[in-house]
Amino acid sequence: MKAKIALLIFIIFLLLSNNFVYAKVTGPCVNCHTMHNSQNGVEVVSGGPFGILLVNNCVGCHTGINTGSNTTPYVYSTSKPTFGTNTLAGGNFYWVTIDDTKGHNVFLNNDDNNLSAAPGDQGLAFCATNSCHANLNKIVSNSGFPNLDGRQGCTKCHMVTTNGYPKGYHHANDGTGTKFVNSASQGWYRFLAGHIAGGGKGVIGIEHEKWNYGATASSHNEYSGYVYYGGFGFDAQDYPQRYTTTAYCTGCHGLFHIDQRIGDEVAGNPWSRHPSDAIIPNSGEYASISTTYNPMVPVARDVTTFNWTGGPSSTVTPGSDMVMCLSCHVAHGSPYPDLLRWDYSSMVAGGGGSGGCFTCHTQKK
Ligand code: HEC
Ligand code: HEC
Ligand code: HEC
Ligand code: HEC
Ligand code: HEC
Ligand code: HEC
Repeated sequence: MKAKIALLIFIIFLLLSNNFVYAKVTGPCVNCHTMHNSQNGVEVVSGGPFGILLVNNCVGCHTGINTGSNTTPYVYSTSKPTFGTNTLAGGNFYWVTIDDTKGHNVFLNNDDNNLSAAPGDQGLAFCATNSCHANLNKIVSNSGFPNLDGRQGCTKCHMVTTNGYPKGYHHANDGTGTKFVNSASQGWYRFLAGHIAGGGKGVIGIEHEKWNYGATASSHNEYSGYVYYGGFGFDAQDYPQRYTTTAYCTGCHGLFHIDQRIGDEVAGNPWSRHPSDAIIPNSGEYASISTTYNPMVPVARDVTTFNWTGGPSSTVTPGSDMVMCLSCHVAHGSPYPDLLRWDYSSMVAGGGGSGGCFTCHTQKK
């Protein structure tokens, strides 16, 4: 009887421990790796072996339906997910398989029919054949860098700066639960790092333990931002901007940030692009924004002054928090054109609407 109870307790413990969310991979090597892709003379995984002796590729392991208890984050579902319910922070690549404008085109055979370079590209689209700045779905070659050649899809964005196939992140220990990450040894925020001009730099932020599944005002990712009034060109992405979420997007869409200050608002000229990493003023229509954090319209926190080790904050503070690329867009894909977080065509001035643009532009509804 005692043994049975002990066994029961052990099983309950196993079930529970399965639910601890580790921010590094755990479990038997054999679940994920194959040494020779051969067992008794038979292939272990057909189509393999995959890079780093893996039993699958990025898309393979990250395909599924999020339930809140899955320990592999799913970014692609083969059936239609419900945006904001069983999708994670980046949205889902499902929609780009239906419509090229609704996601980054990461799948090898799915060219973007409208775009031949990242809009806002700073002239880097031709740095290699099928460079990351030109498209995300084709394989890079002739870059002159062994750590860039061969990249395709996911690894054009989730990169490390060491040579060879991108590696070293899944086993990086960045702690458990919802936590602050700010170094390469932790795999940066969601394995997001730069290269060449941004080399050695990666995104800083607080990672929600379930990748924003079920995020609430008090439990969510925190994104970093920084107001930079310096020069143009690469300078405009310089330290400490290279550690922010917006700086990350501008690695490929640089002009959309650099241009925002060609007409310098501080000097009294209008913005020339919608600002990102700009402080939401504590005046005018912005003074009456909801101060409750909305995970569907996130703001960025100052990379140098926010209390990063204090966990996510449930408030939005005009006068210090910022609008950023990810306030309006998601990173992977959404049900809306331009990877937007909401249906832009339903943002009608004077129509009495809510959410989206009206989250900040409170007097335009
Ligand atoms: C849940 C899946 C998973 C398990 C379990 C796992 N790995 Fe990995 N491992 C990966 C992935 C994915 C990569 C490649 C991407 C990366 O490095 O970020 C990787 C990369 C590696 C690398 C190369 C990069 C580095 O960190 O040095 C080594 C070596 C490695 N694994 C060894 C092991 C060993 C040994 C075990 C068992 C003790 C193991 N892995 C268990 C998923 C797993
Ligand atoms: C063998 C299965 C496997 C493969 C292959 C694999 N992953 Fe993962 N990946 C996982 C698991 C399990 C986790 C959750 C553990 C963790 O957070 O590190 C994960 C987590 C992640 C995360 C989230 C990290 C975070 O900070 O929360 C990213 C980003 C990611 N993988 C990208 C990739 C990319 C890009 C590739 C291809 C180079 C890839 N994965 C290949 C299993 C895999
Ligand atoms: C355009 C660049 C880009 C591409 C391409 C890309 N990712 Fe991501 N990924 C990001 C960013 C940025 C985040 C952080 C999103 C956030 O926190 O809002 C992210 C987050 C993630 C996460 C954590 C879950 C989430 O939604 O936050 C995983 C896992 C992941 N990516 C895997 C992949 C895989 C697998 C692929 C290829 C099928 C891929 N990514 C392609 C930029 C990219
Ligand atoms: C590694 C380069 C790279 C990074 C980093 C990157 N993008 Fe892109 N992006 C592209 C390319 C190439 C295209 C055009 C082809 C496509 O849609 O895949 C694109 C297209 C887009 C589009 C238009 C989609 C369409 O098809 O109309 C939006 C919106 C976008 N990106 C937003 C972002 C945001 C927000 C970030 C930061 C989270 C980001 N991108 C980071 C390369 C990148
Ligand atoms: C205030 C909301 C908002 C912010 C902030 C924002 N965008 Fe956009 N973005 C949009 C809307 C709306 C569109 C649709 C086209 C338009 O209105 O210009 C768009 C379109 C795009 C496109 C597609 C352009 C094309 O030619 O198809 C890209 C790429 C893009 N945004 C990237 C970014 C990046 C990178 C940032 C941060 C530097 C950013 N956006 C910040 C709202 C925003
Ligand atoms: C997260 C907050 C936020 C969201 C969401 C947002 N904006 Fe803004 N918007 C701002 C801030 C901050 C400014 C700059 C305010 C300042 O300092 O003058 C701004 C400025 C503007 C301007 C004026 C630019 C100028 O030259 O003065 C327009 C137009 C605008 N936004 C339109 C939009 C539209 C359309 C949407 C929805 C697609 C949107 N915004 C969503 C925060 C936001």
